[in-house]
Amino acid sequence: MTQPIIEIINVEKSFKKGDRQELLVLKGVNLTIYEGEIVAILGKSGSGKSTLLRIIAGLINPTAGGVHYRGKPVNGPARGIAMVFQTFALLPWLTVLQNVELGLEALGVDRVERRERAIKAIDMIGLDGFESALPKELSGGMRQRVGFARALVVNPDVLLMDEPFSALDVLTADNLKSDLQDLWQSKKTGLNAIVFVTHSIDEAIMMADRVIVFNSNPGLVSSDMRVTLPFPRSDIDPRFRNQVDRIYTLMTTQSQRHEEARANVIDLGYRLPEASVSEVTGLLELLASPEHQGKMDLPDVADMLTLDIDDLFPLTELLEILYFAKVSKGDITITDEGKAFVDADILERKKIFSIHLKKYVPLARYIYDQLIRHPRHRALEEHFLSLLEDYLSEEEAERVLRTVIEWGRYAELFAYDYSSGVLSLENPH
Ligand SMILES: Nc1ncnc2c1ncn2[C@@H]1O[C@H](COP(=O)(O)OP(=O)(O)O)[C@@H](O)[C@H]1O
Ligand SMILES: [Mg+2]
Repeated sequence: MTQPIIEIINVEKSFKKGDRQELLVLKGVNLTIYEGEIVAILGKSGSGKSTLLRIIAGLINPTAGGVHYRGKPVNGPARGIAMVFQTFALLPWLTVLQNVELGLEALGVDRVERRERAIKAIDMIGLDGFESALPKELSGGMRQRVGFARALVVNPDVLLMDEPFSALDVLTADNLKSDLQDLWQSKKTGLNAIVFVTHSIDEAIMMADRVIVFNSNPGLVSSDMRVTLPFPRSDIDPRFRNQVDRIYTLMTTQSQRHEEARANVIDLGYRLPEASVSEVTGLLELLASPEHQGKMDLPDVADMLTLDIDDLFPLTELLEILYFAKVSKGDITITDEGKAFVDADILERKKIFSIHLKKYVPLARYIYDQLIRHPRHRALEEHFLSLLEDYLSEEEAERVLRTVIEWGRYAELFAYDYSSGVLSLENPH
């Protein structure tokens, strides 16, 4: 019988921004992790995945709801739960061995046992022979292995990993993944569950027994899928590709629900997706090519343009916002407007883009209107930034403004001067 190890019950988290504003990041998150499972949490960037992992580990408190670890509420850093981050802050003046021992010092383990356990963890993770190396002598992949050793040396019951492979090149990452898988299967680590966050669908299917798809704004679990393929898995196995397809379908059916609500939802402070005009053009051209006849499978798009979901979904979302394409059940289809855009010449394209931007992106329209009204047709970017900060975190506000400025400049809706931060009308007359 499988026991629940971690129960996440109605977790909600909001962050304070300014005096009264709150940024709601997680809402109504319910999820149970069982003994013996590897669970992948898959979601777009900014959907609150890291926040959720930190709450599970007891590093931050939820605003409402709670987490139980082996039946007991988590209040503060939980013993038995260890975390691996995307990049590890190794202390540069300490050797590999000393960096790994660090995790045990905090637990009050004596020197002899510390050394013994650190050496064992270093061996296990394949760093044998590097005990006395300094972090600067190691490659990125090796440094990440030190991070794993530091997490494993405390003999954790549960391992949480926040995008642990995303800072590594593909080969190094694959290598580390398969080593980790061997370790898990050999049961040498004493681990009873692994929860990892990723934005790669392939990575989730490759490693996990269960894939949790996380919805954003605010983050919540939107689907929970079991992956039953035997290990070791191969990403060219048709059954593997099938599962990848299923996830795309799940993720885009979810975005379709968003789409239905969108007519009234996309407002001035909408978290606009980060996608560039050249990506928009590239994907529309690909779709409109005779080979594809206006319609493609999203996994094929991702493969063909080598995009992961953090690049692909913002792009398809922008195409939907601008009514250049429609996404449904894992397929993307070009609209007549999208077709007209592709068929147009450079100047005509700018014109079409400008019309769609004004029509469908309230922020672009607002900036344009403000510039029209201003006697000298100018405005400082700070003005729009502080407006956006009513809706978004400071960081996101900046990103959204940068993004819309890039679109607006392409469309020649407005001009922007980097050095002064001044927006102005391109053709004020
Ligand atoms: N300490 C914090 N203070 C304010 N906002 C935060 C804080 N941590 C995260 N956020 C915001 O919460 C949202 C979710 O962040 P995060 O959990 O890092 O997402 P993910 O890991 O899915 O990319 C983002 O909008 C981020 O800016
Ligand atoms: Mg994160």
